[in-house]
Amino acid sequence: MILVVGGAGYIGSHTVKELLSKEYEVVVLDNLSTGHRDSVDERAVFVEGNLGDADVLDALFTTYTIEAVMHFAAFSLVGESVQEPAKYYHNNVSGTLTLLQKMNEHGVKNFIFSSTAAAYGIPESIPITENTVTAPINPYGRSKLMVEQMLEDFYQAYGLKYVVLRYFNAAGAYSDGQIGEDHFPESHLIPIVLQHLLGQREHISIFGTDYNTPDGTCIRDYIHVTDLADAHILSLASLLNGDNTNVTYNLGNGRGYSVREIIEMCENVTCRKATIVESERRPGDPDELVASSEKIQKELGWTPQFELKQIISSAWTWHQNHPAGYKVIN
Ligand code: UFG
Repeated sequence: MILVVGGAGYIGSHTVKELLSKEYEVVVLDNLSTGHRDSVDERAVFVEGNLGDADVLDALFTTYTIEAVMHFAAFSLVGESVQEPAKYYHNNVSGTLTLLQKMNEHGVKNFIFSSTAAAYGIPESIPITENTVTAPINPYGRSKLMVEQMLEDFYQAYGLKYVVLRYFNAAGAYSDGQIGEDHFPESHLIPIVLQHLLGQREHISIFGTDYNTPDGTCIRDYIHVTDLADAHILSLASLLNGDNTNVTYNLGNGRGYSVREIIEMCENVTCRKATIVESERRPGDPDELVASSEKIQKELGWTPQFELKQIISSAWTWHQNHPAGYKVIN
């Protein structure tokens, strides 16, 4: 069985569906602090609990034969991490340490870790490869990098096998329209623009128009959540075959879009017009983050299937069908 920690979250729930479609058996551990019970495919076993709870982990590893663990259960808001670093180090670092210790005690050796482009901070050059210097500029990025360092130490000392996946900007929704992005509060660009175009927000604020980019707004690399999920499946297969271990991969499309380009594409897909307010910069946003994902393409044959237009169309279908996210409206 595969243990998916954080399997009720946005990226976790999409990966659970992909795992099940590939005939893996899945147990999800999630405390539902930000995840949604309804996002978990009913074919998966669901356990409500904290990743840092040693008793819950003992029970899980004793009850089920776990071959590998995928770990999605992190807080991931950059701004919040600056205001409340203790929350981030407690959950993202200390919680993960408990998980890794329990895996080690129970002889579970395969681990796939959700890391982030925030590990690079403000990169010196674009596109960003896995060899680009890691210099995070906020507690969120540091908390992820600390775990990456722990993984290497656990490999050296205890033989833990791992794959680190550094995501760029996850977006989009599952093709069946049943699961998608639902954060509270929502801070990500694409869902905010689509919620505005659905009439749920008065306007869109562009955070900064004086960046060092062609149109002055920040450039990001948007990657479909199903493409991310597929990278996990390939990484898992390579770990279980023993082909490829202790490796870090970037996951992006390799093409950057500015905030203005994203808004235009959303207008294009939805045939609606946005009201834009140009606002101050949001602290901690680098000008441009675009991935080179050549390494995983070459080593595992991963090729992203979805371009920006398809990413936004799938998200639009989700938002139209679920205007209140997972909440049921009576
Ligand atoms: N933006 C706006 N208006 C909004 C929301 C966002 O202009 O209402 C801008 C942001 O300033 C940024 C871009 O849109 O320039 C993308 O912002 P997101 O919040 O969607 O994504 P980020 O690139 O800030 O964050 C993502 C992940 C983080 C991760 C980070 C790595 O969500 O978890 O990439 O840099 F840390």
